[in-house]
Amino acid sequence: MEKEVLILAIESSCDETAAAVVKNGREVLSNTIYSQIDLHTLYGGVVPEIASRKHIEKINQVIKTSLKEAGVTLDDIDAIGVTYGPGLVGALLVGVAEAKAIAYASGKPLVGVHHIEGHIAANYVEHKDLEPPYLCLVVSGGHTHLVKVNSYAEYEIIGRTHDDAAGEAFDKVARAIGLGYPGGPKVDKVSKTGRKDILAFPRANIEGCPYDFSFSGLKSAVLNYLNSCKMKQTVGNNLNTDNERQIKHSVYETVFSGDDLIDPEQGVTVADVAASFQAAVVDALVSKTMAAAKDLGYTKIAMAGGVASNSALRAGMKEACEKAGYSLYYPSPILCTDNAAMIGCAAYYEYIAGTRHGFDLNAVPNLKLGER
Ligand code: KG4
Ligand code: ZN
Repeated sequence: MEKEVLILAIESSCDETAAAVVKNGREVLSNTIYSQIDLHTLYGGVVPEIASRKHIEKINQVIKTSLKEAGVTLDDIDAIGVTYGPGLVGALLVGVAEAKAIAYASGKPLVGVHHIEGHIAANYVEHKDLEPPYLCLVVSGGHTHLVKVNSYAEYEIIGRTHDDAAGEAFDKVARAIGLGYPGGPKVDKVSKTGRKDILAFPRANIEGCPYDFSFSGLKSAVLNYLNSCKMKQTVGNNLNTDNERQIKHSVYETVFSGDDLIDPEQGVTVADVAASFQAAVVDALVSKTMAAAKDLGYTKIAMAGGVASNSALRAGMKEACEKAGYSLYYPSPILCTDNAAMIGCAAYYEYIAGTRHGFDLNAVPNLKLGER
């Protein structure tokens, strides 16, 4: 019988302090996440300094809980996996230093993992049949990539964003329409009551780069639309003064709901703008992914990253894949957003491929996918 490999994984690249125990790359024994989101919501986004300080405060507790929930001790663990990039340097350093300390004290091997490799590997937890090669659409707060997953440890980026990442666009537009932070889940939620065809926002195509993305034009189109509504002085006339005051003093907090009117003359609501924006993002993501799959002969498509939990994206990809006869894979929402289980999955495949890092492992904030 094949030997069991248990990985203790640590993730601290952004605002989640997380640890997990993963067996043989696919079975999650524990997945402990301390989310700092409430703390950063006060500032409308992640404050790097605060994130690092909170990681320091929480990391030992999160690891202890994770080992306990998995019903194992450090002695049972075969290797320590840790995200060492990309991400916020001060945040990454907490996890890396912790992992090095545990590896040193316990004599266990240390395996550094690329954060995006982790997002992709999250698919292995619930899809036991998924094996490379396949095409993966990675859509997170910091990345929008189309990736050829050639093997468990070999990745090739064939499409990327020229400006904002998809998640970043969601967050910025959410802020602009008064939904606050974190933007993606809020836009997703209010869009369910909005009309996605009411506003024709642009879908960018980049000449000569059929698989690349661009969301800055879309973001500007939304902002221009909002400004034109304001110019008509319709927003001010139809929102109560408390709302107006809040907008002036804090662009970060949630000040509108989906039913609030953006353009009362035309009856356009916040939910309509959200739904129309979301439809433009989804169209771009689905059409480019499907084009790449068709051109390159992939019939297996996976999605990964925080935006992969978006309900319209899931529905759009599902419809397109069913039509084309392709298989579609995506993780549950809890495994789409940052967590350590996904790092444990990726670390396992790196571990069996022979990847080992020394005690000189450092945080690499702009680590490239496929780099060692
Ligand atoms: O993968 P992730 O947790 O962190 C990074 O590695 O960046 O992704 C976070 C991003 C944020 O921009 C968030 O707004 C977005 O994922 N997001 C969503 C949804 N849930 C999270 N975007 C759209 N719809 C969602 N349901
Ligand atoms: Zn992430």
